[in-house]
Amino acid sequence: MKRLGILLVISAFTIAVFIQMNITGNTTSATTDEVKEGYKFPKKVKAVIDKSCYGCHSEKGKSDDAKEALRWDLMDEYDKSKLVSVMDEIIEVVEKQEMPPKKMLEKKPDLKPSEKEYETLAKWAEKEADKLLD
Ligand code: HEC
Repeated sequence: MKRLGILLVISAFTIAVFIQMNITGNTTSATTDEVKEGYKFPKKVKAVIDKSCYGCHSEKGKSDDAKEALRWDLMDEYDKSKLVSVMDEIIEVVEKQEMPPKKMLEKKPDLKPSEKEYETLAKWAEKEADKLLD
């Protein structure tokens, strides 16, 4: 009987760990709220990033390519020239609507930004780039 008790405790623990892992492994639940300091995103811009971009381009993202290309959570650590080039790339992918990647949108079409949201993001990146080049 004692052994059964121990077994139960162990399996309950395993299940708890498993659930925890599933929660933290869910990239779509990550948001810019994790960026406590540093780069400030306007509210509307933040909403689009959180909905459509942040999950891949942040610490918990699963693709190294995505993280190498852009990390919203590290933007305050980028130097000026890196920031300018990142803003330029953002403008480009947003204008061509190349992000989020098609593959992901096939699975989660509701995460595609609306035309207005794409515009919000592009305008913001243009403004940021202009500010940097002043
Ligand atoms: C499903 C994961 C995923 C999401 C969501 C996602 N990206 Fe990406 N992103 C990638 C990957 C992977 C790459 C690198 C490979 C490539 O360029 O396709 C990338 C590359 C980029 C690049 C660099 C492009 C270049 O020319 O090198 C930019 C800028 C970018 N993403 C912006 C965004 C923006 C803005 C959003 C939201 C509208 C977004 N991404 C959403 C996965 C993602």
